[in-house]
Amino acid sequence: MANTDLKTLADRAVAEIGAAADEAALEAARVRYLGRKDGALAEFTKQIPALPAKERPAMGAAVNDAKRRIESALDERTGALRAAHLERELGAERQDMTLPPRRLRLGRVHPISQTIREVSRIFATLGFETVEGPEIESDYYNFEALNIPPGHPAREKWDTLWISNPLGDDPAHPLLGRTHTSPMQVRIMEKRRPPIRVVIPGRCYRYEATDAIRESIFFQYEGLAIDEKLTMSDLKGVLYAFARQVFGGDRRIRFRIDYFPFTEPSAEIAFSCFICEGRDPKCHTCGGDGWIEAAGCGMVHPDVLRRVGYDPTTYQGFAFGGGLERLCMLRTGAPDIRLFYQNDLRFLEQF
Ligand code: PHE
Repeated sequence: MANTDLKTLADRAVAEIGAAADEAALEAARVRYLGRKDGALAEFTKQIPALPAKERPAMGAAVNDAKRRIESALDERTGALRAAHLERELGAERQDMTLPPRRLRLGRVHPISQTIREVSRIFATLGFETVEGPEIESDYYNFEALNIPPGHPAREKWDTLWISNPLGDDPAHPLLGRTHTSPMQVRIMEKRRPPIRVVIPGRCYRYEATDAIRESIFFQYEGLAIDEKLTMSDLKGVLYAFARQVFGGDRRIRFRIDYFPFTEPSAEIAFSCFICEGRDPKCHTCGGDGWIEAAGCGMVHPDVLRRVGYDPTTYQGFAFGGGLERLCMLRTGAPDIRLFYQNDLRFLEQF
């Protein structure tokens, strides 16, 4: 056995490694030549102790030299195989730069939020400040303070969701999802002194069978003005000015007498139906009568004023409360209130 045998072995190993097709073949070559127990080089190493002492260093150096050549061949081939692999993957993934870019979808303000902003903006031009109040109310503010004591027939009209009092200490006074924004009339009057001019947009709850213009969760906007010399004509003037700003001249307005326990006298405002203009007796949106009720209103009842400590001989005022979705429908032509809450982008993206 000679150094030339070792050199032949290393040449063969380097050639084999250079031709290895994949990492598995490389690993097999590594075991075959460099394996500690049965590798070809180990065979030479084992024989070194049996050599004459003066031949040992030369043999040891030759073994190390062969080992280094084989190892560097292994490293080189490993690198080459990995590079080729990466190249193949990138090639398969190559992007087509001529494709049009994916469209960026920008969010937008929901039509109901747009309407709230519009209502606030218009009433601001009339001197009304926008405020907000709690959606979960007490029986007192939602009903009693508004002249609707327990057992009053008006409670039927405003059935809602009742919530056991989370404080747990007052089972006689459960809370409820407010059925209208009118409780805010009382809260504001308790907190402030006249003159008052506020508008209150907010979510309300009712136990309703839904249809094209009714939802069980919906928005109202409430208005309240209290001062020393306010009359029904101020109320009418404000609401007509509001309607003119919302609709331009497009809708006809119907103002007629109505009843609410907390206003006296009371009235109702309706707008001409934007779907049928009163021409379709089977119209789903207006129910066939050509008008869409938009708001209740009236002069604040003297008993409501007294309850918050205002003297009705000094202060009077008016209040109004309207359905926000209906207003939005009238503005946009959306035919069904339920569309606003189905989150269908094909609908929402139109606004
Ligand atoms: N809160 C009443 C309703 O929901 C509307 C209303 C508000 C009426 C203010 C008069 C004054 O039907």
